[in-house]
Amino acid sequence: MSESSTTLPAAPLDEPSTRRTLLRVGLGAAAAGYGAALAYPVYRYLATPVERAAEAGAVTQISIPKTDEPPAGSALMLQFGARPAMLIHHADGSLVCFDAVCTHLGCTVQFEPDQKRIFCACHSGVYDMRTGQVVGGPPPRSLGVYHVEATDGDIIISRV
Ligand code: FES
Repeated sequence: MSESSTTLPAAPLDEPSTRRTLLRVGLGAAAAGYGAALAYPVYRYLATPVERAAEAGAVTQISIPKTDEPPAGSALMLQFGARPAMLIHHADGSLVCFDAVCTHLGCTVQFEPDQKRIFCACHSGVYDMRTGQVVGGPPPRSLGVYHVEATDGDIIISRV
């Protein structure tokens, strides 16, 4: 009897090692991805105050078209960098803009024209609608005030 001249090629000696290596690399990549997925929210949570401060500090001026000016006796909520701001157009035609973050615990304040006040609903903080000074409630300081300048086409709001 003669043996067949065609034989199957022998498997390379290092095949099991290659599979093991491939499995290790795959598991390592999966572990790294899982770790990154867990770490990213923690990083964002810890980095957010710093990023907010940096972003808020970076913006020194915004402008809106005059056509977006709120009607007299009303307010327009804006974003000044990362912070909410409130542009109030008073009935006498004057414009004032405040940082809309309550100085107590950071809730966003609202303009209440019927009550002639700026109100924080979180703990009933009350601010003067013309100056932003504290009128009642727990806020320790007045609202931040922005400089407002109306030009022909725009309303420019900038840090004081
Ligand atoms: S957060 Fe505004 S009164 Fe407390």
